[in-house]
Amino acid sequence: MRIILVGYGVVGKGVTTILARRAMEKVSDYGFNPKIVAIADVDGAVINPRGLSPEKLEEIKKRGYPISADPDFGKKGISALEVIKTVEAEIVVEVTPVNIKNGEPAISHITEAFKTGKHVVTTNKGPLALAMPALTELAEYNNVYLRFSGTVGGGTPMLEFAKRCLAGDRILAIRGILNGTTNYILTEMSQNHVTFQDALANAQKLGYAEKEPSMDIDGFDTACKVVILANWIMNKKITLKDVDRTGIREVTLQQLQDAAKRNSTIKLIGSIEGDKAMVKPTEIPLTNPLCVSGVLNAITFSTEYAAEQTLIGRGAGGIETASAVLRDLLDIRRKLATKLLT
Ligand code: HSE
Repeated sequence: MRIILVGYGVVGKGVTTILARRAMEKVSDYGFNPKIVAIADVDGAVINPRGLSPEKLEEIKKRGYPISADPDFGKKGISALEVIKTVEAEIVVEVTPVNIKNGEPAISHITEAFKTGKHVVTTNKGPLALAMPALTELAEYNNVYLRFSGTVGGGTPMLEFAKRCLAGDRILAIRGILNGTTNYILTEMSQNHVTFQDALANAQKLGYAEKEPSMDIDGFDTACKVVILANWIMNKKITLKDVDRTGIREVTLQQLQDAAKRNSTIKLIGSIEGDKAMVKPTEIPLTNPLCVSGVLNAITFSTEYAAEQTLIGRGAGGIETASAVLRDLLDIRRKLATKLLT
């Protein structure tokens, strides 16, 4: 299985680390033999149609930016789009930074991959939040798979849990803490009485926050995840503009202290209930299983038969999210092996 990796930030590096490690440990799953044939970044690409060896992947990572400086396989100035168009591969892994204004350049990367008959695995929320119904249709039309399990919950398999493990049930509602940064900020404010600004500065220092902190604190990141859950799990056809969204800027230390007196706290909750998709700071009891601290994420699925099921785990991080990419690659491999197109 030949892979073109587009984007070489923390998730991209995590993907090469995981695949190189598997190759060295000779892990075999149903004949899954992934080969990264190209990595495209903003400066150009490294391309080896026979596959970049684990040693080469390590060398590229050590050298860092610009990747096109590689003496053996570097190609300065070639665009990711050109790489997708011209390099032979079965899968494009798209892990460029999120852009929720127009979804670019990821939308163009994904559509070009589809047009050239390549499956896509992405961790990029932008294209899905803005155009998920259109992208899933385009994938079907081109007879290729689109997988995106790292977009919600990072390494924690929230989408798979709902889609597969709860397949025999009917999901009536979803509520969750889907953003690590805001959970960290609210936890710091309520447990350690740190101010909003100081907690945000800490979250940025620790590397949890998005490049543009408004993505996290104004609830856009959670809203993107709500869109993905609503479409993929609850068969809705919504985009970002359909989510009623409030962030955590207005949450005060006083409100958190008042909530604590009632044995509750305030969390940024993303929810889908009936026709309503929402992101809102919400008071919840400390005994609610959703009430997790720090950067953890948690999601509760309310089902018709099995009542409430809650999944808790890390919702961010390079290597964690890269493990979701590997999960998607294995899923596509299994589907191709059994020739089941869904
Ligand atoms: N900034 C996001 C978070 C990253 O804090 O959860 C994962 O989507």
